[in-house]
Amino acid sequence: MKRHIPFYSVALIALLLASVKMEAQNLRLREDNIPEILQALTLEEKASLVVGGGMKSMMAGTLGEKGVLVPGAGGTIRPIERLGIPSVVLSDGPAGVRIEPKRKRDKGKTFFATAFPSGTLLASTWNEEIVTKVGQDLGNEALEYGIDVMLGPGMNLHRNPLNGRNFEYYSEDPVVTGKIAAAMIRGMQSNGVGACAKHYALNSQEACRNGNDARADERTIRELYLKGFEIAVKEAAPWTIMSSYNRVNGVWAQSNHWLLTDILRDEWGFDGIVMSDWTGKRNTAEQVAAGNDLMEPGYKSQKKEIIRKVKSGELSEADLDVCVERILRLIVKTPRFKGYVYSDAPNLEAHAMTARSAAAEGIVLLKNDGSLPLRGVKRIALFGNTGYKTVAGGTGSGNVHAPYVVNISEALAATGFHLDADLENAYQVYLKKKTKKGGFLSQMLGKSLPKEMEIPDALIRPDNADAALFVIGRQAGEGLDRHIEDDFLLTASEKAHLEKVQAAFHAQGKPVIVILNTGGAMETASWDSLCDALVALWQPGEEGASALADILSGAVNPSGKLTMTFPLDYMDIPSSSHFPYDYKGSSSMNTMKKYKDKGRENIDFTEFAEGLNVEYRYFCTSGKPVAYPFGFGLSYTTFSYDSLEASRAEDGTVKVSLRVTNTGDVAGKEVVQVYVNDPAPSFFKPELELKAFAKTSLLAPGASEVLEMSIAPYILASFNESTSAWEIPARMNILAGASSGDIRLTIEL
Ligand code: BGC
Repeated sequence: MKRHIPFYSVALIALLLASVKMEAQNLRLREDNIPEILQALTLEEKASLVVGGGMKSMMAGTLGEKGVLVPGAGGTIRPIERLGIPSVVLSDGPAGVRIEPKRKRDKGKTFFATAFPSGTLLASTWNEEIVTKVGQDLGNEALEYGIDVMLGPGMNLHRNPLNGRNFEYYSEDPVVTGKIAAAMIRGMQSNGVGACAKHYALNSQEACRNGNDARADERTIRELYLKGFEIAVKEAAPWTIMSSYNRVNGVWAQSNHWLLTDILRDEWGFDGIVMSDWTGKRNTAEQVAAGNDLMEPGYKSQKKEIIRKVKSGELSEADLDVCVERILRLIVKTPRFKGYVYSDAPNLEAHAMTARSAAAEGIVLLKNDGSLPLRGVKRIALFGNTGYKTVAGGTGSGNVHAPYVVNISEALAATGFHLDADLENAYQVYLKKKTKKGGFLSQMLGKSLPKEMEIPDALIRPDNADAALFVIGRQAGEGLDRHIEDDFLLTASEKAHLEKVQAAFHAQGKPVIVILNTGGAMETASWDSLCDALVALWQPGEEGASALADILSGAVNPSGKLTMTFPLDYMDIPSSSHFPYDYKGSSSMNTMKKYKDKGRENIDFTEFAEGLNVEYRYFCTSGKPVAYPFGFGLSYTTFSYDSLEASRAEDGTVKVSLRVTNTGDVAGKEVVQVYVNDPAPSFFKPELELKAFAKTSLLAPGASEVLEMSIAPYILASFNESTSAWEIPARMNILAGASSGDIRLTIEL
């Protein structure tokens, strides 16, 4: 018998189906419906979410701006419009928002961004407050330029001074690195934009960065190379982390389950996303399975691979879903998702002031025989190309398109000094001739410096000046490490010119001051006797030269200290022979397919044979002398330390306090470092390990301040490889120092 379905039931079903369809059509991503969205996504859409939008956005300057949200931004997450998932925009970098400063589609408008001081200088402030302020302004620029996630801070350790990217990293010490990075991340993210701590992990050289296998023991990895990231994750919860190009003990960092899941998430509790550094295609499925959520910049072939491997069962869809869900959780936090209407007009003037005050706190006075601050000096003979074309930052993705860069010559003039005009003119003419426009690559990544001008003897004229300022400039950056010759060392011509300037000026009793406009350490011991004062200006951002002029004139008292050691000789460095110091090739000479240097030590693989003995940990333990120790920096005043106290709280946190008094006759700030030493170690411990630091406020002559610091147990502990456990000794010495070479007070805890 035929059954008749009543008309009203058919209509009801149709209505129901239609409403389900409509509901599906109306399904839009919200903060509280992520599981539902995950259900609604097709496999293709999931693959599309974990594979970034390609190089279009970064290359907008050449490929055209059509369909690009923010030209020049480093990368994107692709949108899925039917589900209300917007595109998310990621931008370099650690020293400022790196986007195209001009747009064809918006002629007449500019999109310059503040070049803040680079990483080395920021860390040299030892001032978390000022770094947070830099982060706030930097993050605000990101927000106002339509950026959702900033690709910074850079956090790799200065394992060796020749690493080409040290300028954008903070220190040879993981506590400085972690604390400064956490301060920066807190500042950036206070704007509601994300930060990206990079490059995780052991990305300690540029030579063959796309293939190098960093080989280190677990303790070294955990205590040194991961500790900074751990601090940043625990203290500042970055929205994202960038996995590095290299391998770690044979496994790509980007598909390293141990690094990306076991340690980062399960041990430290990281709940953001991991994105790959801008890699070509690798084994994408392995990356997803390891917990690398987002492949940047993203290639179509990666999408296809994911789809194919899920279908074939090689990649579990559940693993893919974990990454997709994390990406959705990131997206709902972004300004773009929240519909923030950005102005494209951040307050660059206000941010320039922050850049200047940060620079003033991070410039380090290394030597001073009393000629600084300059008293009675009106006329200055300024030598060195970068005195007239100052290097604000390094090259590559860490480079910023700044609206301007104040040159040292301009800053000195603005402070009321008179420059030797003939000398200035000679440099200006020379630099005009030598400054090439540069090809596409150099425009994008930054230019190498022109050769130093040969200074004619006739222009070394102490009669025309009260002091000589001799600037030594260096440039380095992504893709290339520095070299010993003509870089870490002075060039023959620099040395010869410095000798001539010294002889001529000293003959008339006039001081010679050398300024290092570099991204990191240099050899100074063989020549610093030629100068009366030595100042590390670093690569100080657009306003750094103004800050330098304030320090030279005495308007600002220097308070920066070194976050890396200046060795007497490159070969003294514990990692010296385990670093490609003599390699001339670039990082891109070794791509995945054409692997030129297979099997070559320090290129294909690098043994971190020095283990924990990185820089000051080694120098303090071995007693080997250095030129300028970690933590060192002079002031125009003096400080005394007393009343060191240390106690351990219930939860194991160690509280340290001490009093600092300004014993000189000008106001100043002092950085105090707290080290620990294990008097009876049951396994190897370096002689000194930095565990905390603090900086006073500006202390008037005679004024005191009590500094209080606390050291969390996870920062205090050492990793005992034989038990695979973190251990804190029952007894330890707490040492307060003005540097690692100048311990003032010790107490036993
Ligand atoms: C760099 C990263 C950078 C990315 C995007 C890579 O070459 O290593 O630091 O964030 O490019 O520009």
